[in-house]
Order: sequence, then C-alpha cells, then structure tokens
Amino acid sequence: MKNILILNGSLGGAKGNTSVLIKEATRLLGTHSANVDVLHLDDETALDELERKLLWAEGFIFTTGTYWDSWGSPMQKFLEVSTAFEAGAAFLFKPAAVMITMHSVGGKSVLSRLQGVLNTIGVAIPPMSGLVYALSTHLAMNSSEQSFNADFWSMEDVEIVVHNLMTAVNKKHDYKAWPVDRKDPKRRWLNE
Ligand SMILES: Cc1cc2nc3c(=O)[nH]c(=O)nc-3n(C[C@H](O)[C@H](O)[C@H](O)COP(=O)(O)O)c2cc1C
Repeated sequence: MKNILILNGSLGGAKGNTSVLIKEATRLLGTHSANVDVLHLDDETALDELERKLLWAEGFIFTTGTYWDSWGSPMQKFLEVSTAFEAGAAFLFKPAAVMITMHSVGGKSVLSRLQGVLNTIGVAIPPMSGLVYALSTHLAMNSSEQSFNADFWSMEDVEIVVHNLMTAVNKKHDYKAWPVDRKDPKRRWLNE
C-alpha cells in the first residue's frame, strides 16, 4: 500500500469547492489501495509535523483554487516553509499530481507554474497528472450542447490523474539530485 498526501492550498479549505475534487480523488485512491492523508493548509495547525508527513508520503496531490491568477496564500506559505526541504528526502523524486479549480480564467497558468515550482523542489510530474476544473466548464457540461465535452477537463478526468499518479508511484526510477545551498534562504545578499 502506498502513502499519498493531499495538500490543499485553497482559501476554502475543507469546505471549499476544491474539497469536492479532493473527496473524489480520495475515493479513487481507495481503489488503488492507497493510504490517504489530507492536509488543508488554511488550517493553522496544518504545518505542524509537516516534515514528518512529507517524509511519510510516497506521492502527492497538490490542490488549490485560483485567486487573482495565482494559487491560494496557504499554498504560498507552504512553499515558503517547504523551502527547507528542497531537494531532500521529503520531496525527492516522489510523483505529484496537481488539481486546480477556478471560475473561468487563470487556472491553467496556476497549474503550469505550480507544476514548475514543484518539479524544481524535487518532485516528479507524471504525464497527464494535472487538471483544472472550472465553474464555466461545470455549467457548459450541463448545457444542451454536449458535442465539445470531450475537450473539457471534467470530474471524470480525476480518475486519469489518480491513475497516472499511482502508475508513477509504483514505478522504479534512477533519478539524481543536484546539490542545493542549505544555508538560510532568507539571508541578505545585497548590501548598501
Ligand atoms: C479572492 C478570489 C479571487 C478569485 N480569482 C479568480 C481568478 O482570478 N480566476 C478565476 O477563474 N476564478 C477566481 N476565483 C474563483 C475561485 O478560483 C473558485 O471559486 C475556486 O473554486 C475556489 O476554490 P475554494 O472554494 O476551494 O477556495 C476567485 C475567488 C476568490 C475568493
């Protein structure tokens, strides 16, 4: 059984729109016999024992809504705190899926940028393991015109994301890490 940690960086937390995708992913991860833990990062206690939870995980799903073209502030805080674990055992080479929600605009950029940051921090991004679910799509999927639906990211695609994540989690790899500077990342580098 593999351990999957879901990190929700949305403002809505456990009660938000994004939590619906998390529930569906959790159900599907059950069909892969995975152990699942969910961290809603808006919860002030979520970052307690963060390192232990990251070390426990063998794969991740990162989720967030879209807020003014970016990920939620809880996700940003997580990334800032997690800089201490960059290129370390907490992240290195563990596969990560990413799921974004939005109303209509900006989510694909959030998806691509978050995948880029996570990849640089040390995780592996499997093919077709990221999606954006939009209110505009949600409404369009239920309209009388259905012929374009295959081209929209839908709730059914969560199954593909989870499948590709678990395929990557179960695969062996031979990646290598480059060295990183582990001194204080906040230290001054520009003097008057
Ligand atoms: C402050 C704020 C800013 C938002 N900005 C955007 C945006 O730039 N683009 C967009 O499509 N939706 C935007 N939304 C809508 C949210 O992305 C959407 O409702 C999302 O599902 C929220 O997820 P949550 O309920 O899990 O927090 C915004 C919502 C809020 C509250």
